[in-house]
Amino acid sequence: MSEIIDGKNLAKEIRESLKVEANKLKEKGIIPHLSVIMVGDDDASKVYVRNKSRACEEIGIEFKEYLLPNDTKQEELISLIEKLNKDKNVNGILLQSPIPKPLDIQEAFNTIDPKKDVDGFNPYNVGNLCIGQDGFIPCTPYGIMKMFEKYNIEIDGRKVAIIGRSNIVGKPMAQCMLAKNATVTICHSRTRELKKELKDADIIISAAGKRNMVTEDMVKDGVVIIDVGMNRNDEGKLCGDVDFEKLKEKASYITPVPGGVGPMTIAMLMSNVIKATKEQNNIK
Ligand code: GUN
Repeated sequence: MSEIIDGKNLAKEIRESLKVEANKLKEKGIIPHLSVIMVGDDDASKVYVRNKSRACEEIGIEFKEYLLPNDTKQEELISLIEKLNKDKNVNGILLQSPIPKPLDIQEAFNTIDPKKDVDGFNPYNVGNLCIGQDGFIPCTPYGIMKMFEKYNIEIDGRKVAIIGRSNIVGKPMAQCMLAKNATVTICHSRTRELKKELKDADIIISAAGKRNMVTEDMVKDGVVIIDVGMNRNDEGKLCGDVDFEKLKEKASYITPVPGGVGPMTIAMLMSNVIKATKEQNNIK
């Protein structure tokens, strides 16, 4: 039997402490501000952005949403980001991914001022994470590291297998784990022997976006399972990448979906907005 990692509760604890910090800033006349840009009408993005807006409201962060149409031109997107970069009232800028195909999302991320890049996707922050310098850490990997910390799960010297090599989760996750002295393997769609890689792992972090990607026969006893997947099952219910019911009997720790990684991602975004606001105002 495993211990189920309660991301929902830990995220709530983090938001409570951020509320205290936001109140301290308010006493100094500073209201943290997050601007979110969404291009097009991706349904999942709408839900994510609504959840981000609710968290901002709860903590006392001002939230502004820019909804751009599907046929937005690259120059228009870039010029909005440049405008927000210059705006002294804006502390954090987030461009919700995905955006419509013809647009170049990386160029847009590259344009976000690294000091306001609360997602940590600007190459300056990506580089800082790689060399162990302070910067903004992408919210999902950051939230997962907080879970390991809270539950005192050892990372040093252990084998970590990550499924997925995205810039949003897989790659920054690998850097976070490496910084804590793990031996890291990144698996992806071209990995030849996924089962072998997973069987060997002490910790599995799945960000494949495919239900039943990780099954009982693929893991060893006592493994730690972190499920980043957000999928729907046949009944339309939210589910992760792993066979939770079977794996919770075999793992030492496991995250549920929902109530695991998802709420932590939003809590760490809030944490990054507070960090950005403090740094821009020279507050320690
Ligand atoms: N789309 C899915 N996850 C994320 C995220 O963490 N940040 C942004 N900007 N877009 C996303």
